[in-house]
Amino acid sequence: MSKKPFDILIRGGTVGTAADVFEADIAVRDGRIVAIGHDLGEAAQELDATGQLVLPGGVDTHAHIEQLSANGLMSADDWESGTAAAAFGGTTSVIAFAAQHKGWNLAKVVEDYSGLAERGAIVDYAFHLIVSDPTPETLEKDLPDLLSRGYGSIKLFTTYDLLQVGDAQILDILRIARRHGASVCFHAENHGMIAWETQRLLSEGLTAPRHHADSHPRAAEVEAIERVIRMSELVDQPVVIFHVSTREGAEAVRTARARGVRVSAETCPHYLLLTRDELERPGLEGGKWMCSPPLRLAGDHEALWRALESRDIQLVTSDHAAYRFDETAKLRHGPSSTFKQIANGMPGIEVRLPLLFDAMVSSGRFGIERFVEATATAPARLFGLHPRKGTIAIGADADLVLWDPERKVTLGAAMLHDRTGYTPYEGREVTGWPQTVMRRGQVVVKDGALAAAPGSGRFVPLVRTPERTPTL
Ligand code: URP
Ligand code: ZN
Ligand code: ZN
Repeated sequence: MSKKPFDILIRGGTVGTAADVFEADIAVRDGRIVAIGHDLGEAAQELDATGQLVLPGGVDTHAHIEQLSANGLMSADDWESGTAAAAFGGTTSVIAFAAQHKGWNLAKVVEDYSGLAERGAIVDYAFHLIVSDPTPETLEKDLPDLLSRGYGSIKLFTTYDLLQVGDAQILDILRIARRHGASVCFHAENHGMIAWETQRLLSEGLTAPRHHADSHPRAAEVEAIERVIRMSELVDQPVVIFHVSTREGAEAVRTARARGVRVSAETCPHYLLLTRDELERPGLEGGKWMCSPPLRLAGDHEALWRALESRDIQLVTSDHAAYRFDETAKLRHGPSSTFKQIANGMPGIEVRLPLLFDAMVSSGRFGIERFVEATATAPARLFGLHPRKGTIAIGADADLVLWDPERKVTLGAAMLHDRTGYTPYEGREVTGWPQTVMRRGQVVVKDGALAAAPGSGRFVPLVRTPERTPTL
């Protein structure tokens, strides 16, 4: 019997990339896209995409999975549940965090974290290296070694007692990153301002979740973004600012880019769609919406959308940081917890693409191209996964989503697959949904069922060289 030329043929869909939207069939062989066009021939398996969009799988470059948090708490999701949720939401690649806490050996952190991912991951993955203890061993031995072995992205915190690094340490790390062409990402908030405001509020008995937002002043974000940018200029090393939440933060990035600084930025669905009013709920309920930086004001939404329009912000990631709202996690200090004792973070890996498709494309504000760019192509390019990930092109991995642009879904915790037990978007209706999800040519989600085993996701190296410094 003659072998068919392709393993899979996706017929009759509308293909959407960051550049174009067009009618075409897509042929897949050995996990890669090998032909795009019409009348491509026969395949062992055919998928009918009539009436559907065919989009690159989402690339979520900011997801906390099976990671000890900045508060010393293990996240609700392990690699299996976190990446299953990603797959159900149309995301086929994630970058998570191998987190060095103080006193820990970075090489061992990466070895252990790799073992967890190898056993559990359902989608493909890479790591950011959280460096919190830049000892001579870390800086001179482990970091250079890891950066040259495909762990080409560093994440630094300017706040959080357990993880923060000081300015001189940041400069040391930026210089090492520059030598290796690595990415350096920042959680940028001024630690002193947050600590001072926290102390002031608690001493006045203002302990409710809504005061978490007061304890992270807008100025703390702006100051740290501007400081990080100045350090980036001093060392001539590009930086990525994570989760920009304020109009002024976006403006700081825009101003720096206008004078030629190589700074890129992300925001997250919650900073585009939710406000700090969510924290006002009775009792500790608002703790479900506590994250850092905190949710801001409706006026910030418009500023962030405009920054996405102008591409001063290039990426929208989930910052999936899932903690259950019970005594095992957010409420582990009991029913009288102060805002300082409630873990920061919200789930979002599964709903990122549906929320954004709804807010960007179904709303008519942006085209499909811009949605794909912000959620797949730009993140893949910035961190060195592109062109293997984040696009539909000959030779790219066949990470594809058959997306129903008309399907209306009401979001709720019961239908989602992470282990948080709640969603910040309970009851919100979205239009547009990932129907079928393929990873390297294998259907991993179809008709609401998972069809991939834990451990079937693969590590994708972020290989960097000084000549190919990541910047957008
Ligand atoms: O509140 C958040 N975002 N928690 C996760 C850790 C971080 O700051 O990114
Ligand atoms: Zn952060
Ligand atoms: Zn984060």
